[in-house]
Amino acid sequence: MDSVRFKAGNKSYFIHIGETINNLIKYVPGKKLFIITDNNVNSLYSRYFPKCPIYSVKPGELSKNLITVSAIYYWLLENEADRNSFIVGIGGGVVCDLTGFVASTYMRGVKFGFVASTLLAQVDAAIGGKNGVNINGYKNIAGTINQPEFVICDPNMIKTIPKKEYLNGLAEIIKHSIIDDKEQFNILEKKRFSIMSLEQKELEQIIIRSVKTKVAIVEKDVFDSNERQKLNLGHTWGHGVEKVAGIPHGHAVAAGLVFSAAASANFGHLKKEEKDRIINLIKDIGLPVTTKANKDEVLKAIIKDKKKSENQINFVMINKIGDTAVKPISFNELKKFVLNEAEF
Ligand SMILES: NC(=O)c1ccc[n+]([C@@H]2O[C@H](COP(=O)([O-])OP(=O)(O)OC[C@H]3O[C@@H](n4cnc5c(N)ncnc54)[C@H](O)[C@@H]3O)[C@@H](O)[C@H]2O)c1
Repeated sequence: MDSVRFKAGNKSYFIHIGETINNLIKYVPGKKLFIITDNNVNSLYSRYFPKCPIYSVKPGELSKNLITVSAIYYWLLENEADRNSFIVGIGGGVVCDLTGFVASTYMRGVKFGFVASTLLAQVDAAIGGKNGVNINGYKNIAGTINQPEFVICDPNMIKTIPKKEYLNGLAEIIKHSIIDDKEQFNILEKKRFSIMSLEQKELEQIIIRSVKTKVAIVEKDVFDSNERQKLNLGHTWGHGVEKVAGIPHGHAVAAGLVFSAAASANFGHLKKEEKDRIINLIKDIGLPVTTKANKDEVLKAIIKDKKKSENQINFVMINKIGDTAVKPISFNELKKFVLNEAEF
């Protein structure tokens, strides 16, 4: 087990990677405890939950909205939760986002923790303190930036997630390695053909490195004004494709990483050999490198995306594997590149 410290301002807490859900109670302060989870996680793991009231949502993105939030507020009130209560979210990114949002707003904020149960939640959604819910299908429109008291990443729980969800997490792990961890990228390249069946210890090491990369970036810029934007690597094109083609987030991010590598090479930042390494890794792992989504529709979706400011886009450019920078580029420049490239 490795406990990675997150420290920003006067807030400091640990992300325990390799800890088991059985030990959750050790981390919960002696307060009235409430658990939020989803029906899949509840049916697989509730036998490990400490005895307390449990709210279980329908699995999936459609639960991440203000209707669910409101229902949870009512449930907390009925169960006499007060400002001294403690809430633990046990689940994937949807449950973590819901729990963080509810806990940050119920009675102006109660303390909370996470047991992240998907690969994506362990390396990404549970890390960094962003807690958002969707409005009218638009992602994370209402949200807070507020840190938990602890995060537990139990790699054993990953064994029960579907392959598609595992791939979603891998896309974010690849993203973190390209942003700032060349060594992790080399490791992923070496293990690319066995990545779907890693030994638990090997997976744990990969999760630890990925968490450390995200923590280091977020600690420099908790409120997302500069450095943290690097975490949007692959998301400009990725979000557009996700909306248009309706594919899973991680798959869209993978296609977005390919797009970023090609654009970075096109704009003279990234060498062709490194671009090819990125594309080959994504392909060999089994993630999509292209989606054949309608380019005009993707471009329209990008314009609507919140990362666009006026005519400029803050694009995360890859200089080298393990070295990225946020660069404003004009939307027209990006459009010209998209329309001239056959393969997206
Ligand atoms: N806050 C952030 O910084 C941040 C970062 C990235 C993503 N996110 C959000 O995270 C969400 C996606 O998270 P996700 O990919 O974990 O999706 P998810 O929470 O929907 O979980 C995916 C599926 O896996 C199931 N599941 C969860 N744990 C399981 C387990 N151990 N065994 C079997 N099944 C399990 C869930 O029930 C669900 O069906 C999105 O809403 C995204 O916006 C947030």
